[in-house]
Amino acid sequence: AVSIAPEGAGSGFVVVANRLPVDLEKLPDGSTRWKRSPGGLVTALEPVLRNNKGAWVGWAGVPDVEVEPIIEDGLELHPVPLSAQEVTDYYEGFSNGTLWPLYHDVIVRPTYDRRWWAAYVNVNRRFAEETAKVAAEGATVWVQDYQLQLVPKMLRMLRPDLTIGFFLHIPFPPVELFMQMPWRTEIIEGLLGADLIGFHLPGGAQNFLYLARRLAGQPTSRGTVGVRSKLGVVQVGFRTVRVGAFPISIASAELDEHSRRRSIRERAAKIRAELGNPKNILLGVDRLDYTKGIDIRLNALEELLIDGRVDPSETVMVQLATPSRERVESYIQMRGDIERQVGRINGEFARVGYPVVHYLHRPIPRDELIAFFVAADVMLVTPLRDGMNLVAKEYVACHSGLNGALVLSEFTGAAAELRQSYLCNPHDLDSVKDAIVSALEDNRDTKRRRMRSLRRQVLAHDVDRWARAFLDALAQDQVAGSALLTD
Ligand code: ADP
Ligand code: G6P
Repeated sequence: AVSIAPEGAGSGFVVVANRLPVDLEKLPDGSTRWKRSPGGLVTALEPVLRNNKGAWVGWAGVPDVEVEPIIEDGLELHPVPLSAQEVTDYYEGFSNGTLWPLYHDVIVRPTYDRRWWAAYVNVNRRFAEETAKVAAEGATVWVQDYQLQLVPKMLRMLRPDLTIGFFLHIPFPPVELFMQMPWRTEIIEGLLGADLIGFHLPGGAQNFLYLARRLAGQPTSRGTVGVRSKLGVVQVGFRTVRVGAFPISIASAELDEHSRRRSIRERAAKIRAELGNPKNILLGVDRLDYTKGIDIRLNALEELLIDGRVDPSETVMVQLATPSRERVESYIQMRGDIERQVGRINGEFARVGYPVVHYLHRPIPRDELIAFFVAADVMLVTPLRDGMNLVAKEYVACHSGLNGALVLSEFTGAAAELRQSYLCNPHDLDSVKDAIVSALEDNRDTKRRRMRSLRRQVLAHDVDRWARAFLDALAQDQVAGSALLTD
């Protein structure tokens, strides 16, 4: 890593996200190194930023560390420091104890705490100030996700010359749930500071348009919003804010190519052998998060074993779970529950040396993860709610041989596109069990036909196309939008 000269003209393209694409890691000997940050936002945006030569403003993932701007692996990174108290109140508190559960259908009850809100406002202001320093005159700034919903308005007040986009990576909730939020009007107004606000699905965009009328009192278009088309419009004084649906994706072609490499194929075969050459490998890959429905797939597997519909001597499940938000109470509880469940299933159905469920609580290196995707006969993606779910798309991209089957929850954004997966309702355990059994037992031709269709979708709609669709819409003439108001 090298330092950037402080006197520059600034960047013409700036991404702002709570996290930088890399986390600073403190090693036991006191030294530090950078490692890849967890989660889908980084997976999607890293290739975009590489292609667009920009700067990234974000937190380095550890409290109380001041780091100079650096260039790491070709990316220009501008760290925003957070104190330990801010990590507690803004990150673990308001972002992940209030917004995350509220926006994911209140699977866990959100906490509304005035101190957390105050910290959220302060930290959003600091992100806006840092971005105002980094962005060149007339630059395009792209603000990401629920942690930074006030930044568009704050940044516009500091720098009216900028073009500002905002993208929400998680679901935007139904109006009835959003109305719980004590600071609902401030959040809608914060977002309305952007020129273009993007959601994964038209439903989220429509929820937002309704709230812009109801809470911010602004006139909006009333027509339905399309996918990458038919943007909605909010008139904010003389400004026109556009609202659209842009389903995010992955670097599909790169992953497809990567997964075909000999080294990956060999490692996949070795993984199968290490697992005892079972007939069926079931795989789950997630951040350890209560939205992901890891408990649901374990329940489904347990019942299938009890019912005798799945044979423990020929079936192995692997669950790879990255640690996430480990100090937040709901995450601590869920981890305990899942670890008990894994223990119970193995206690009942394993033989010595042959566990039925293999559970790894750690991030897996990229190559190894791809080999697991390649090795898996059935991928289990069962969230109760998920904005998109990139894991589902990654699995599909790794199956050029058209083998494998994807079990996918209807409550993911990906389900809107991946219609040929084995769709299930995670609230209905029988539906999950039946989807798993079909994915295991359908004949080869059926599975190939389904996988071919999934691959067509994933390879044609990659993350580059997502970014282009959003950035092109952002660059479009603002006046063109206002005509839509008469819809
Ligand atoms: P989220 O953004 O909520 O974490 P996504 O499915 O959209 O969910 O993205 C998760 C990303 O993190 C994917 O790129 C996935 O490959 C990666 N990932 C998830 N679990 C692991 C793991 N155990 N080890 C390494 N990477 C993981
Ligand atoms: C999801 C969110 C991201 C977040 C990621 C990892 O993908 O949409 O904003 O960065 O999860 O979570 P973390 O709390 O570790 O940043």
